[in-house]
Amino acid sequence: MTEDLSAQILRRKSFRSFRQEPLEETLLEELVDYLSSLTPPEADIDWNFDTLPYLDLMRICSGEPGVKAPMYLILRAERKRFSLQNCGYLGELAVLWLCARDVATCWQGSVRIEQGSDFPDSLPYVTAIALGHSDESFRKDASEFERKPYEKMVFNREEKYRPILELGRLAPSSFNRQPCVFVSDDRGRIHLFRRKSFLSNPVTDFAQCVDAGASLAHLEVGARAAGFQPEIQRLRPEPKFKGNLIYQASLVLN
Ligand SMILES: Cc1cc2nc3c(=O)[nH]c(=O)nc-3n(C[C@H](O)[C@H](O)[C@H](O)COP(=O)(O)O)c2cc1C
Repeated sequence: MTEDLSAQILRRKSFRSFRQEPLEETLLEELVDYLSSLTPPEADIDWNFDTLPYLDLMRICSGEPGVKAPMYLILRAERKRFSLQNCGYLGELAVLWLCARDVATCWQGSVRIEQGSDFPDSLPYVTAIALGHSDESFRKDASEFERKPYEKMVFNREEKYRPILELGRLAPSSFNRQPCVFVSDDRGRIHLFRRKSFLSNPVTDFAQCVDAGASLAHLEVGARAAGFQPEIQRLRPEPKFKGNLIYQASLVLN
């Protein structure tokens, strides 16, 4: 990841209307190159992706996607611990990369593709993102975001990390539930946690693992823009913060 995508975090939003016109072939080829160049936090988990036009998606998914777009990015991964988080990370970097090219996106957690309906020998489907051009505008600045207050999501000991944490806070999440909590320590690390879902609902848990990956991508983009060379690590023993939080990963700010 070399391109600075931090400015895109402030412009990105979930678009709900798309022009029904195909995306430029060269842009899709560049998107494929970009995604293929990425390494997710858990590098050993097998993953892949497809870009599918609406009609091709309709052949394999159950039901209509919530948002009709000319194209969908489909993320798949073998089922291992953190494979959903990996997809959230990869998908959100793709979203920011597309945003830098004025391509509108919307995460589509509601899209379902059963293994039996997917292309033969595919890895298990994880999630989809709608993409295309839109007549809606991108956001102008951070004031347009609907997010919980900083104090409810961020527990920061070092003021110098605030710009990074602000960008983490703006990450998208399924139903805007904002399950992530960001905690910095005095050893140059930002720890990411997510709140336990109500009654441990497996569908919500699934989505919130993807949400955590998107937040990690924002933190990493923010840390690079702030001049760090961040590393995503899973610390052992796991950092503890509050009882209702599940540790996700830490960003070590080198
Ligand atoms: C993992 C994930 C799944 C999502 N699924 C859907 C979806 O199925 N349909 C939809 O309209 N928006 C979906 N969203 C978008 C959220 O509703 C949106 O991110 C949230 O409301 C915050 O708004 P913003 O993205 O404009 O900042 C999803 C977002 C994430 C991160």
